Formats: sequence, C-alpha cells, structure tokens
Amino acid sequence: HTVKDGRVEILADSEAMARWVADRLLEAATAKADGPFVVALSGGSTPKRLYQILATEPYASRFPWDRTQLFFGDERFVPPDDESNNYNMTNKALLSHVPVPPANVHRMPTDGDPDEAAARYERELRMLYGRDTLEEGRPLFDVVLLGLGENGHTASLFPGTDVLQEKEKWVSSCVPHDAPHTRLTLTYPAIHSSRTVMFLVAGKSKAEVVPLVRSGDPSQPASAITSEGELVWLLDKASAGEEDGH
Ligand code: 6PG
Repeated sequence: HTVKDGRVEILADSEAMARWVADRLLEAATAKADGPFVVALSGGSTPKRLYQILATEPYASRFPWDRTQLFFGDERFVPPDDESNNYNMTNKALLSHVPVPPANVHRMPTDGDPDEAAARYERELRMLYGRDTLEEGRPLFDVVLLGLGENGHTASLFPGTDVLQEKEKWVSSCVPHDAPHTRLTLTYPAIHSSRTVMFLVAGKSKAEVVPLVRSGDPSQPASAITSEGELVWLLDKASAGEEDGH
C-alpha cells in the first residue's frame, strides 16, 4: 500500500497550521495507548511555532511524553550547540520545557565521520523497531513531519544527490550542491514506513514549488515521498497561492 498524493488542508496562516498539527499530534499520541508513539521531527523554520505550542498548555501536560519517542528527519552535521542544528532549535522551543525523558529524545549524531554517524543513527532506529528490515504493515514511525524547500528538497533529500537512489539504508549522509553543511537524513524507504507523513509548508516563497511537487514533477525530491499510511499536506494561504482578497 502506497500513498503518494495525499490530502490537502489549507489553513489561514502559519499560526493556524501549527495549532492544527499540535491538535492532530496530541490526538494521535493519545489514541495510540498500546505502545510507543514514534515521531520524526523536522527542522527548518516552519515547525518552530508548532514546537513552541506543544511546550504550552494544554499540550505540555496532556501529551504522553513518557511513551513518546522523538527522532529527527534530518540534521546539519554541526555540533548540537550550533544555531543551525535542528536538535538545538527543537530543544530550545520544546524539549527543555516538557517532561520528556532524555532517553526518549534521539538526536542525530554530528561527530566523527558522517557515513558512520548515519549508520549509528540507523542502529538506534533498528533497536526501537526490533528488526533489521522494514516490513509493510509495521510502520517505523507514527508521524513523520516534513518541510519543503524552494528547490523541492524535503528532509535533507536534496536535488541531484546520491541519497535519492538509496533503497536499503534508513539513514544516510547527503552533501547538498546548493546549501551549506553536510547533512544526515532519513531516506525515502524510512519515511515511507510511516502511519502518517505531514508536510508543513508556509509562506509565499513556496507557492511555486508546491504545485510542482503535488503534480509529481520528478525533478523535485519531495515528489517521491510516499507513506504506507496517510500523507497530509498542510499549507497556509500564501503557500497555497491564495492571497487575501481572492
Ligand atoms: C531543515 C530541513 C528542510 C526544511 C525545508 C523547509 O531545514 O532542517 O532540512 O527540509 O524542512 O528546507 O525549511 P523552512 O521551514 O525553513 O522553510
């Protein structure tokens, strides 16, 4: 079973989008009472507001943090105290404010060799999954949050890079041609192994790339994202190309 197109929710603005996703996450986490709730968090600027909201009431005290396992969809290969490190942003906006057990936060390693660090992170995911091979019908993630770059990248799946061909590994390094820093990223097969993939896309600068990806343009890495569960596109009016007054 593979979902490619997904449904679209257009929210008034990025604040409404963040609230919508916070509600959805709380619902899904609460509903899954029979095991860990496993999330892959995204970086970039769009999800920051979502993380801040999750750190406030009622989310902070109602979220089942003790059985929530937080992973990252991608990371810049810079130390965790670097301003551009996704864990750093997430920690400041969310993790440092809520009672999530430190053992449930799986930061992507950014020391040593990037390929070796990617393999280490993959081992951490395998430990949680309990098998070495991804099985259809047994998703690795409950929710994968993703953003969308103006050049069609998502997570750190950048145009023209080898990671786009990866079929086996769950985690890989990636050296973008047109963006700073070596990255670690989840691969297509790892993202596919999900109950829900949510793209969070806000702002007018994304209005041109959204229809390209949604129409399946093969030059946009985000076009090849699939889920074995559901795929949801969250757009604000600006990224959906709906300006006020139209
Ligand atoms: C990251 C992610 C990237 C991001 C998009 C959108 O930056 O960590 O690699 O895929 O989600 O570039 O970023 P914005 O939300 O900042 O527009």
